[in-house]
Order: sequence, then structure tokens, then C-alpha cells
Amino acid sequence: MGQTLIRARLLSFLREPQSPEDTASFRYIEDGALLIEGGIIRAMGEFGAVSTEGAEVIDHRPHLLMPGFIDTHLHFPQMQVIASWAAELLDWLNDYTFPEETRYADPALCARMAGVFLDRLTEHGTTTAVAYGSVHATSAEALFAEAFARNMRLIAGKVMMDRNAPEALRDTAQSGYDESKALIARWHGRGRLSYAITPRFAITSSPAQMDAASALAREYPECYIQTHLSENHAEIALSCQLYPEALDYTDIYARYGLLRENSLLGHAIHLRAREIGALAEAGAKPVFCPTSNLYLGSGLFDDAKLRAAGLVNAIATDIGGGTSYSMLQTLAEGYKVLQLNRQRLHPYRAFDWITRGNAAALGLQDRIGTLEAGSEADLVVLNAKATPAMALRMERARGLMDELFTLQVMGDDRAVVQTYVAGVACKGAGL
Ligand code: GUN
Ligand code: ZN
Repeated sequence: MGQTLIRARLLSFLREPQSPEDTASFRYIEDGALLIEGGIIRAMGEFGAVSTEGAEVIDHRPHLLMPGFIDTHLHFPQMQVIASWAAELLDWLNDYTFPEETRYADPALCARMAGVFLDRLTEHGTTTAVAYGSVHATSAEALFAEAFARNMRLIAGKVMMDRNAPEALRDTAQSGYDESKALIARWHGRGRLSYAITPRFAITSSPAQMDAASALAREYPECYIQTHLSENHAEIALSCQLYPEALDYTDIYARYGLLRENSLLGHAIHLRAREIGALAEAGAKPVFCPTSNLYLGSGLFDDAKLRAAGLVNAIATDIGGGTSYSMLQTLAEGYKVLQLNRQRLHPYRAFDWITRGNAAALGLQDRIGTLEAGSEADLVVLNAKATPAMALRMERARGLMDELFTLQVMGDDRAVVQTYVAGVACKGAGL
């Protein structure tokens, strides 16, 4: 099997940085080398210290190489609802998103869009995604098949929704259970794929369907669970009205056994103290979706409050409520949301979050999110001078932190020079 040696400036986090001064939290190698074989990083170190014998050498200097970005919440059938004019979440779902998702009943459309979706991710530097399909099993099927063909790490699931949605977008408690189970049997654990049991949210799942999701969760403890929680006030009020016996929105999911360490809860904005305690006790992971929360006017995620309660937060784009596929743009908007809460997202923590941090939230820190030997060779190569405006800013940069902050505030896909999935370059030659 051939070996590849990539030469570049290398950055990889070892643990979460505690402050801008915490430079011991990462490894930064000015003239670094990664040795890759069979899709795995075999060695990381100074260029002179890593053997080049027999390896094909790719030189990305002067660019910065880090682990590929991880997007922990986005919707495959929503690429074409980005930038839809809506007042708030429930209007946006009913007027644009549900009608658009009905198109994904067509397997030919799903197959074409699966390739388009993964192309959008990798061109933005994202190498692992946690995705919602539409209600149609064929959408998850197409996405898994395409990711499998590309040897890309993907966590995904068919949405379960059996009420409060157009007829064409409803399954039943039984069909949602059966189709999810068949997808798990076919795809979970195959290649780099994992299944996420995906009841869309309390509003679109009847108690009978929540029972079915609960049964799946019990049968498949190693599968992820993903849903939406406490995004918007009208959504919270309707959810509590539909489940009057629950103490609050979080308790709806708790009652059906859907809160555990591999549960991913999109948004988690307007939570009461009791709910935060319940999430922390279960070890469930809130997912911050800043571009979506600003775009839909949903509210300001309180990162510090959740962390103080012991929660581990993930961060994500939430395409297509979110407005950019870029995890760099996600960090830019995340920075602004946290500023409004008088919390500051420093660049070391920001880049740790979209790499090692999100990997840890997914329980995958031994496989992705770092450049340590033994990790999967999912990589992104970044140029902080990619646009004239960025290059101008970089003329005044005073080191790595300024470079990262320029990428965090001004970067997008133009700053992504190359993306590697399991050691294979994804962007066109010459980029
Ligand atoms: N809540 C339920 N479904 C959705 C969705 O598709 N996007 C967002 N942002 N929130 C949701
Ligand atoms: Zn979502």
C-alpha cells in the first residue's frame, strides 16, 4: 500500500484550550509532516524527523493543515431552502422546508443530491457530518451509499415524523420503526458509517411514534439519537401542549428514553434550570447552531451556562435553517452570538471545538478530530490569505492566534485549499 507524506504547518489540539495563553493544549509544528497510509495517519512530527523514503510527497507549505471539520447537525434535504424568507421556525418549516422535503421521495433525486451534498461539505473543509434525511428511507439510503463509496465518515438517519406535517411527509409509528431498523441493519457500523435514530421533534411525532423511537433506542444503544429541542418559544409551547404530562420540553424526550450520552439535541436555547440538570445527568449533547439561530431569530445559545452545569456542547451549521456550509462561518456567527451573551470564543477554543471538541461530543476522539498517529486521515488545508481582504488583514497578523482569528472571522470555502477524506484529496487538482 502506498504511503503519502504531507508537508505543511500542522495544528492539532490535545485537549480543550482554557484561555488564549493555553498553548500547551495543542501541537503546532512550523515545518511539519504527516505520514499517511491506508487512510490512517501513521506518523506526525517535524519534517526532518518523519521518514520520507518511498512516500509520495505533497507540499502544502506555507498553508496550515489541521484535522477536517466536523459538522454535528445539518439536513440533507434542505440544501435548496437556504435563504428562504420566513418569519420564524414554524412558518419556515411549513412554508418552505416541508414542501421541499417531499421531493426526496424520488430515489433518483436523492442519489444525485447525495453527491452534491458531500461535495458541498468537503469543499468547505468538513469531513464528518451528522445529517438528517427526509422522512423517506431512500434519502438516508442514498446518503449512506454515497458516503460509503467515498469512504467518508457519516452519521445519519431517516427522519421519523407521523403528524403535523403534509401527508406526503408522514410515516407511521410502525413504518418509521421498520424503515429505521432496516437502515440500521444495512448501514450501521459498515465502513465509516453510523446510524442516528431521528425523531424530528416532539411536534411531528405522536406518542405512539415516540414509543417506537424509544424501542429503537433500547434495541440499539450504540446508535446515536438526534432531535431538536427548545429552539423557539412557539415550538416549546406547542410541544408542551402536545405532551401535557411532561414537566417541560426536555422531559418529553426523557420519558421516552431518548436522552443519553450519544443523544444530540439541536439548538437547546431556551432551557430552564431543571432541564439543564436533566440533560447533564443524562450526558446528552446540546448542539449550538449559530447561523440558524440568528437567521430564524430563534435566540442566543448560552454556552457558558450549559458548560457550567457540566454539559459538553457541540457546534454545527444546521443547513438549511443555517446559512452556510462553512464551519468557519459558523464560528464567526458563534463568536457574535456569544459576544451578545458577554461570552468570548477565543480562536484556540474555536478551532478545537470544530475538530477535537466535536469529535469528543460524538465519542469519536480516538478516530477523528486530531492529527495524532492512528487517527483517520481526514484533513483540511487552510489559507488565511485567501481573499484580498484576508491578505490585507494578515499583513498585520502577530502569530498563530491572529491567523486563526482571521480564519474564524473572515474565512469560508475560499480559505480551504484542500480537503482529504481518508487520505484522498477531494478538491480538484491544482487547488
Ligand atoms: N425543528 C424541527 N425540524 C427542524 C428543522 O428542519 N430545522 C430546524 N432548524 N429546526 C427544526
Ligand atoms: Zn435541524
